[in-house]
Amino acid sequence: MNSSQIAIVLGTRPEIVKLAPVIRTCQRRDVPCTVVHTGQHYSPQLTEVFFDELELPRPDRTLGVGSSTHGEQTGNMIAGVEEVLLEADPETVLVQGDTNTTLAGTIAASKLDAELCHVEAGLRSHDREMPEEINRIICDHTADRLFAPTPAAAENLRAEGIPRKRIEVTGNTVVDALERHRSIAADRSDALEAFGVEAGEYGLVTLHRAENVDDLDRFADLLTGIDRVAREFDLEMVYPAHPRARKVLEDLPVPDSIRVVEPLDYLEFLRLESDAGLILTDSGGVQEEACVLDVPCVTLRENTERPETIAVGANRLGGVTPPSIVEAAREMYEARTGWENPFGDGDAADRILETSAATVAKEVA
Ligand code: UD1
Ligand code: UDP
Repeated sequence: MNSSQIAIVLGTRPEIVKLAPVIRTCQRRDVPCTVVHTGQHYSPQLTEVFFDELELPRPDRTLGVGSSTHGEQTGNMIAGVEEVLLEADPETVLVQGDTNTTLAGTIAASKLDAELCHVEAGLRSHDREMPEEINRIICDHTADRLFAPTPAAAENLRAEGIPRKRIEVTGNTVVDALERHRSIAADRSDALEAFGVEAGEYGLVTLHRAENVDDLDRFADLLTGIDRVAREFDLEMVYPAHPRARKVLEDLPVPDSIRVVEPLDYLEFLRLESDAGLILTDSGGVQEEACVLDVPCVTLRENTERPETIAVGANRLGGVTPPSIVEAAREMYEARTGWENPFGDGDAADRILETSAATVAKEVA
């Protein structure tokens, strides 16, 4: 195997979306790249459909780790990723975001002789109850190179004492992905017709965070809040439910105004996002996409690690109680769109590769 190469570790839906532009840029620049899928996500609707729709080659290695406790899942992933990295001997290892896959890739790579790069570094919710916040902190303080999507994320890293020379502001690859796929989604997806909804007259809901959906009372309150918003603005709510939420929904009465459907493939979801009257979500990626697509968003959490979306007027924190959700929805539904996009101009993947060791080595050779 070529030793001047990049290894990309991914394992969940948002990692596939956000690393797709980097994988394609490796292909375009002829940089040898090994993609390892940990198998943290394994349902076809969270894995295969994304490789297909994002026109990516299948991963070089799939570890098939699956679901379990944090420790067991992360431990199995560390062992599996280490084995692949020892074999591939990459010059650079890229991890993205804040999942257990990100953490496992970080720990495995940090003990080997490769430059470890963290894509989407520096995000902070300042809420250590979230497993993602712990993962972010460990990854940022372990990686050799930190690709911050925005100046505010870079500032978070500086405030924690990380040297400036390790930090690069690149923009967020979510914009690269949207630029490539939004018009394809508009042309090819018939999601609005399939769901029988009109542009601007429905709300798009996603809820999957452990702290929201694993607690029955809290999840029930969130559904009540969404139902009140549906009634006040006469919006039908379409909710493609992540499997984690789907399991809990079996034990909860779902109001008639909320249509729960299977997780959607990327192009269908993008089409529904682009034409929604309002987006209500606890997803990180969906907050960013709503902002870039110019669709008002209410975040169903008490904090966000994407404060840029709030600063530009694209998003409000709706909290987790029905009155606070309705209040935020009133504010956002009336909001004037056309806000600034804080996540860059769509060339984050190029910036990331330009500053990665394996690319530099190839260009020098
Ligand atoms: C993980 C990330 C979260 C991210 C989300 C993206 C961590 C700690 N959390 O959450 O930050 O926002 O991915 O979607 O890494 N399940 C399936 N099929 C699958 C995967 C999961 O049915 O393909 C079910 C299983 O019951 C599993 C549960 O979902 O126990 C949770 O899966 P897990 O990977 O632990 O975390 P996510 O909730 O997906
Ligand atoms: N997404 C999708 N289909 C869905 C829900 C989400 O394609 O039914 C995409 C969405 O466009 C975004 C990503 O999945 O790119 C976000 O993933 P998720 O919300 O699971 O994770 P998070 O961003 O919160 O970590």
